[in-house]
Amino acid sequence: MNKKIALITGITGQDGSYLAELLLRKKYIVHGIRRRASNPKLDNIKSLLESKKYSKKFFLHYGDLTDSSNLNKLVGRIKPTEIYNLAAQSHVHTSFDVPEYTAQVNGIGCLNLLEAMANHAPKAKFYQASTSELYGENNTKFQNEMTPFQPCSPYSISKLYAYYLTKNYRSRGFFVCNGILFNHESPRRASSFVTKKIVEGIINIKNKKIKKLYLGNLYAKRDWGYAEEFVVAMWKMLQKKKPDDYVISTGKSITVKDFVNKVLKKLGFHYKWMGSGINEVCKDLSSGKNIIEIDKFFFRPTEVNFLRGDYSKAKKNLNWKPKKTLDDLISIMINHEIKNN
Ligand code: NAP
Ligand code: GDD
Repeated sequence: MNKKIALITGITGQDGSYLAELLLRKKYIVHGIRRRASNPKLDNIKSLLESKKYSKKFFLHYGDLTDSSNLNKLVGRIKPTEIYNLAAQSHVHTSFDVPEYTAQVNGIGCLNLLEAMANHAPKAKFYQASTSELYGENNTKFQNEMTPFQPCSPYSISKLYAYYLTKNYRSRGFFVCNGILFNHESPRRASSFVTKKIVEGIINIKNKKIKKLYLGNLYAKRDWGYAEEFVVAMWKMLQKKKPDDYVISTGKSITVKDFVNKVLKKLGFHYKWMGSGINEVCKDLSSGKNIIEIDKFFFRPTEVNFLRGDYSKAKKNLNWKPKKTLDDLISIMINHEIKNN
């Protein structure tokens, strides 16, 4: 049997770490690219690095998507059979502050990696981490592979470039896929994303470590799934005979405020929302104190107000569907946080 060798960019992130675990379980040799600037504790992949079982199967290399010479060298040396491009400046809000950097990493970085593949591993299968942010200011009830893109942030515009670039390599005969993934979360989500921020923040309030949590737009709706399940879909895309693009989502959508309500209820708070707009607050009825307030800083200059994905193509062609509900996901995140708080 031919050896399966995966190269994962973004290995230290949420998805990269779950994908590495999945592929190692499937007996792949896994190579990951980490940056010199990565958190030296490498929290998400610590268990893999410390595992004797994977000592000859899991390798890390220093690299950066913006360094094409580095990518060419690595792809030439590793000769991967599958490449997963998960690395990104992945924070939408931050992309308004660092638009050029975001374009370099997410746009040109994807080009650098596709070129390295074309030069050194042209038979490799390539996965590009595309995103539901591409739909932007849409007004459709569900978004699927046919829904027009209307990106509205430097982040999503950089991802639009990478999306079409990937398709162009496909037209030229390379096996490349776009996974259009809707929001997916887990205990490994960075604290600057809203789900993790809410879970962490409310537990810290309960444990009296902080007094209140500041949030931005409470009324944006997102389709939130579980990251560990979503990486399975990435792998499935590359096992098909023909490359294609797929929406991966749960098909359900709720507001940020409803996400907060679910966490507050699960943690036993008695509370009441009051006021509106920038003055909206959530009061803890036991202490009489505000536990959530709005801070203008967290609003985006342009916002994606509604996302709900139609994953029927993935269900039909990949036999993939989400299993965990949003309530399951919230419980997983809460339990992890309580254990580690
Ligand atoms: P994440 O946790 O933020 O991880 C991002 C990864 O990219 C980290 O490993 C980071 O490394 C790495 N990285 C950043 N800049 C880099 C550079 N210049 N060169 C090499 N590596 C770099 O993101 P995620 O949630 O796992 O998402 C994975 C991918 O899917 C991203 O491309 C994201 O845009 C996309 N996506 C995510 C979602 C979602 O809801 N999670 C949905 C759709 C699409 P360091 O540790 O060094 O910072
Ligand atoms: N981060 C953050 N912090 N978001 C907040 C806050 C806050 O304090 N308050 C409200 N929000 C709202 C945002 O305005 C947005 O509408 C929603 O919460 C989700 O924000 P994030 O968790 O930052 O995720 P995102 O939807 O912008 O982007 C994530 O999902 C995309 C897929 O749709 C990221 O993972 C992207 O990389 C990914 O492509």
